[in-house]
Amino acid sequence: MKITVIGCGYVGLVTAACLADFGHTVTGVDHDSSKIALLKQGTSPIYEKGLTALIRVNTQRNRLFFQTSLDHGVEDAEVIFIAVGTPSLDNGAADTTQVMAVAAELAKYIKDYKVIVNKSTAPIGAAKQLRKVIRDHLETDVEFDVVSNPEFLREGHAVKDFQEPDRVVIGADSPQAQKVMSRVYAALIKKGVPYIQTNLESAETIKYASNAFLATKITFINEIAKLCEAVGADIRTVARSMGLDHRIGPQFLNAGPGYGGSCFPKDTKALAYIGRASGVPLTIVETVITANEEQKARMVRKIKGMVGAALEGRTLGILGLAFKPDTDDLRESPALTIIDNLLAAGAIIRVYDPQAMEEAKKIFKKTLIYCADPYAAAEGAEALVIITDWEAFKFLDFMRLKKAMASPVLIDLRNLYTPAEVEQYGFKYENVGRAGHGDRDLSDLRYPG
Ligand code: UDX
Repeated sequence: MKITVIGCGYVGLVTAACLADFGHTVTGVDHDSSKIALLKQGTSPIYEKGLTALIRVNTQRNRLFFQTSLDHGVEDAEVIFIAVGTPSLDNGAADTTQVMAVAAELAKYIKDYKVIVNKSTAPIGAAKQLRKVIRDHLETDVEFDVVSNPEFLREGHAVKDFQEPDRVVIGADSPQAQKVMSRVYAALIKKGVPYIQTNLESAETIKYASNAFLATKITFINEIAKLCEAVGADIRTVARSMGLDHRIGPQFLNAGPGYGGSCFPKDTKALAYIGRASGVPLTIVETVITANEEQKARMVRKIKGMVGAALEGRTLGILGLAFKPDTDDLRESPALTIIDNLLAAGAIIRVYDPQAMEEAKKIFKKTLIYCADPYAAAEGAEALVIITDWEAFKFLDFMRLKKAMASPVLIDLRNLYTPAEVEQYGFKYENVGRAGHGDRDLSDLRYPG
């Protein structure tokens, strides 16, 4: 099939490369000419495991092309994916300006039946709005269909998530569009991947509901971690035991400094907005958003609790800036909020992150001291704070750290270590959900009722 993907960002590029790999002839379109120039040379403008290889091999097979103009991209294709950004507006709603602008532009080139697929995360009802915008801008009186095909790609695993998804969701109001889409995804259907055909609104809702549920799961375990600290329980054991119940499942039960990234914060806010706008406030989602903010604030209080509230002129080491490991992405990373608060209190911050330092320099400029490794970040520090669960931070040399630091204090916001492991080196140790209350006798605790 001939397919065009508009928007060669993270989602669009992965979609284009993977669809080409399924055997389709795919054209990726982006108005950013420097990005297209890089892609034409076989260089990916973003880092994503396996993506460069996929781009190169499919370009060589003459199945993947890149260009800046929409005209032939639309005229020649049977299916056109839209994968442009939908950032948050101040009220939390997703801004569909870019999606609708692309729709108005591409409509001019539609000369025969096309299926236009929205892959950008857009508010429930956006696909129907997309249909209207296209219809209003058609220059030829032809039939077309609109489809909602949400993506569930995790950064760092996006190629694998596309090639081996838990499910594919296709929202469409016409049997013809559903038929076309089943040809697009024939390779996955053949493999037995669950393939859900539904209407537009359900597909759009599935995306938001899935992300909000995962954000809720993380927030729930963060709340239980807070309780564990108060009552002397161990969140790791509690979470593991909960996760062994198949109805709950083990994933997304790691307590930490709060969720971040390009999706969860944005999508929970957008869903809460949709609920309010639809006259059905989603109280759980609203609470999750507030609780996640509070989790970050609680982490700052934790750090101050270990070092002392007067941080003026005190040196702290920070390990990890990215919102999760294996990315340089800082969007909505809890590290940003935590560091902002520590800087505001006058602390001197030494940081190390295996990949996100260049991004951090754009935000923090010279307000941080950027270090070459964890031990340099620990130099002269009164406490070392682990914020991102990078593999490299799981095997620290505590003797070396102790020598480098002004005082041996480790605040482990990802629970990478156990208290015993760290305390044997003479460190004062704090974490999320297991901190220092293990010896409290709860035998006389009375529960109401
Ligand atoms: C997420 C969804 O997983 C994906 O399906 C969707 O399409 C986009 O959003 P991503 O943003 O790449 O993907 O990150 P993910 O791996 O899901 O982690 C999100 C955040 O939750 C990170 O800040 C991570 O540290 C945090 N998290 C995750 C926890 O704090 N605890 C957990 O147990 C899991």
